[in-house]
Amino acid sequence: MVKRIGILTSGGDSPGMNAAIRAVTRVGLNSGLEVFGIYNGYKGMVEGYIEPLTRNSVSQIIGKGGTILGSARLPEFKDIEVRKKAISQLKKRGIEAVVVVGGDGSYRGALSLTEMGINCIGLPGTIDNDITCTDYTIGFMTALGTVTDAIDKLRDTSNSHHRCSIVEVMGNRCGDLALYAGIACGADIIVTSDTGFNEEDILDRLRELDLIRKKKHAIIVISEKITDVEKLAKKVSLNTGFSGRATVLGHIQRGGGPCPFDRMLASQMGEKAVDLLMQGIGGQCVSIRDNKIVAYPIEKALSMPADSRKPITNLFERLL
Ligand code: F6P
Repeated sequence: MVKRIGILTSGGDSPGMNAAIRAVTRVGLNSGLEVFGIYNGYKGMVEGYIEPLTRNSVSQIIGKGGTILGSARLPEFKDIEVRKKAISQLKKRGIEAVVVVGGDGSYRGALSLTEMGINCIGLPGTIDNDITCTDYTIGFMTALGTVTDAIDKLRDTSNSHHRCSIVEVMGNRCGDLALYAGIACGADIIVTSDTGFNEEDILDRLRELDLIRKKKHAIIVISEKITDVEKLAKKVSLNTGFSGRATVLGHIQRGGGPCPFDRMLASQMGEKAVDLLMQGIGGQCVSIRDNKIVAYPIEKALSMPADSRKPITNLFERLL
């Protein structure tokens, strides 16, 4: 049976990664395993920046944002020679299995390591909610809270000045953060890669909100990587009765202590990861699906269509 496991956080950090590190460490230690922290993601694995974790080293971190292990992106990990180096660092220390907390890129690394004989389990750590096999990723709910809070504040000032606030949110190519935040804040327009972007439609809708609905403000929530929001704000000022203002929320969305949901999710998923490794299972990723903690083979998880999750796009339309 496996005796030594490692844990790393990889890709963009997310609130709740520390709660996952704590869960894997505590459940691991309480199950008789030795647990090692691998610092700075796969980079630390290759460089051998690996240290034992104790109960104390993970105390008081469940509510802390960021990741105590640090995170990094290492595209070179695709190279088999780089992975061989990483594996020899693990073998030197007797580490036989690893929990990888990160996004889909990190999952690919975990799958390749498993194929090379190191069992890995992936936990979905990203604010983007772009891992389709899970209803929620660790960090998404906290980021949603941060975005909601920011938009509520923007609404106050927008309302005082007859403005249209255009709020750009993260999500990589996934529109969930924009969609959920737009619904949670009662936005007027939501733009994601799923809704498509049509500037003329947006301007028409704003004119209608101003002239017919007599609204004092308007809120547009838009996913990143769709359009230049500063330019859009200028067009709004020129072509509608609202004065346009753009706000890019940026990395603020990744910070802050995790909300209770993310702490719970990370703790439950961390527990499941250790249980799987103790059964000698690797190449899987942990998910929450219909309120149950489950695991899928990484290969299958990465190819699941986005619409395999409950769609809520219609809800936004019905609330307008
Ligand atoms: O994947 C998380 C994420 O925050 C995305 O939403 C965003 O596109 C990207 O990372 C930003 O990356 P970086 O922190 O490298 O600028």
